[in-house]
Parts: sequence; C-alpha cells; structure tokens
Amino acid sequence: MYTQSFSVSDQDDAKSAGQTASLVAVPKQASASEQALQAQFDERIDADGRVEPREWMPDAYRKTLVRQISQHAHSEIVGMLPEGNWISRAPSLKRKAILIAKVQDEGGHGLYLYSAAETLGTSRDQMLDALHTGKAKYSSIFNYPTLNWADVGVVGWLVDGAAIMNQIPLCRCSYGPYARAMVRVCKEESFHQRQGYEALLVMMQGTAEQKAMVQDAVNRWWWKCLAMFGPPDADSPNSAQGMRWGIKRISNDDLRQKFVDATVPQAKVLGVTLPDPDLKWNEERQAHDYGQIDWDEFWATVNGNGPCNKERLGARVKAWNDGAWVREAALAHAQKQQARQMKEAA
Ligand SMILES: [Fe+2]
Ligand SMILES: [Fe+2]
Repeated sequence: MYTQSFSVSDQDDAKSAGQTASLVAVPKQASASEQALQAQFDERIDADGRVEPREWMPDAYRKTLVRQISQHAHSEIVGMLPEGNWISRAPSLKRKAILIAKVQDEGGHGLYLYSAAETLGTSRDQMLDALHTGKAKYSSIFNYPTLNWADVGVVGWLVDGAAIMNQIPLCRCSYGPYARAMVRVCKEESFHQRQGYEALLVMMQGTAEQKAMVQDAVNRWWWKCLAMFGPPDADSPNSAQGMRWGIKRISNDDLRQKFVDATVPQAKVLGVTLPDPDLKWNEERQAHDYGQIDWDEFWATVNGNGPCNKERLGARVKAWNDGAWVREAALAHAQKQQARQMKEAA
C-alpha cells in the first residue's frame, strides 16, 4: 500500500497547520534573485513541468514534500506488519508465496520513497527517528488488526485498491523523484489489489462459513478504507496548496468518490454487501451517494489511539534495535574495504 491523507500534519507541525499557505509567498525581504527564482519555479509549475532535486524550490514546497513522502514511506513499511503476520499461516503454498511477494513489494516501496525523500536533503536516520519516536504519522489504516485470512484478501482488494486510486495521480506529481517512484509502485499495487480480490473470489465459492468470513471482513474494513482518502475537502486546509503546487492532483473527496464508484460493481461480482444503507446510485450526479464517515474514530487513530498503534510502533522500534548489529557490521565492512582500497591505491 498505501497512502492516506498525506496532508495530515506530523506532531510538531500540528500547531502551524493552516499556516503553510502563508509560507509560500516569497518573504518581503526576499532579494531580487530569490524573487526571480520563485517566478521561474511558479512558471514551471504553471506549465505542468517537473522540479528536480538540485533545482531551487520554495522552502514550504520542500517541507511539504518531505512530510508527505516520508509519511508515505512509513506507511509502506508499517503496512508490512498486518499482512506479514499472516505469512506463516497462509492456507496454501501458493497463497504463502503470493503474500511473501506482496509484503516484500511494500518494503521495496518504502525504500524507493525514503530515497526520494532523501533527495530533498533529509536523512533516512532523521525520518526513521521521527517514526520511532511517534512524531511522524503514517496511514491510519494499518492501526487496525487483521483478524483472519479473509482480512488479508480484503486488505489487498480494498486497502491496496484505495492506494492505487490515491497513487496514480501522484505519477504526475510535480516533484520528479516522487513521480517516478510512483510509476513502479502503482504497477505493483495493481498486483496487490488483484491477488486480494482473487483470494476473495475463491473464498466466496467455498463454504457458508468462508463466505461469512469475507462479509465480516468487508464490514470491518469498508469505512476505514473510505477514511484513508483523508478528511473532507472542506476540512483539508493544506490540500489546496498541494494542488496549486502540482503535488496533489485530485481532491480527497473526488478520490473517495472514484473509489466508491469503482468498488460497488466489484462487490457485486464478488457477492458481498458493502455495509452502508445510504449507498445508492445517484442518477443526477452519475455517481454513488454514500453515508457519513466516522471522523472522530479516524482522528483518534491518527493521533495514536487506534487498536494497534502501540503494537505497530513497538514492532518497528524492535526491528530497528534488533538490526543494530547488522548496520554496525555493514558499516565496519565498508570501512575495512575502503581502507584496503586506499592502501592498494597508495
Ligand atoms: Fe500494496
Ligand atoms: Fe505499497
């Protein structure tokens, strides 16, 4: 997976949320050369051009990208946990192999994204420190438990499906390294979505108990997936700026609508009911109406009080600490190699 509303502020940014837009304008004291650089940047954005790492960019643009890309990277690696939990319990060798490949892909997505964020001048150590100390956010969806095998299928179908919806427009993001990373990520997400949907199709041809498991998993995940697109546009003060900069191309509400409209026919083919009595086709809008999302629950989870927040963070911190000897050994080996090369060159 995945992303959610990457416009969600990290802890230290929370107080200044909403002030971001005012940082965009060149400060009054800006020199003539800075003003010229800003004008060049604006022109490039207006022409739908790409911004590359060594080029001048406004501080607020850089800061927004670091926050968004690092939150995205954290989401990918934290997203490995709920499904990784099921690798040892997959129902067949085929399902195990597929799930291993998927979870490994998510680790790869995290690496592309940390690398993309590093091009903006932040180090991987800084980003990981922010994650491990609870300062950085990641997608709220991974703070819910995967209770049984049907959850693994539903996570692929709906969570990765929502991720694709969110990430395809990011392939056209104005920041080059992020946009390029998204091209491959989206191809892999497509496989993730299909493997989940296919696993569910098989279960829905099984016993009554298996069908009930799928329906129960859909009931538990549906609303959380809708919340993944982030707060309504009216409550997303940073979204307009993200769109102005060509980072965000489609608004939270429009992405959510696209997801609902794409998923309803898939649910029908699968034979499950989406748990929303207000879900119905609106002829006039040529789109589905849907019910109210519980934003209190979303914010409680984003702010650390979801069912698995502590467990997820604990698992990441433990992995980091347990891997200390590997990092030390790799560093010592690299230093030894370098010393040997220098000696040979001398
Ligand atoms: Fe995925
Ligand atoms: Fe992913």
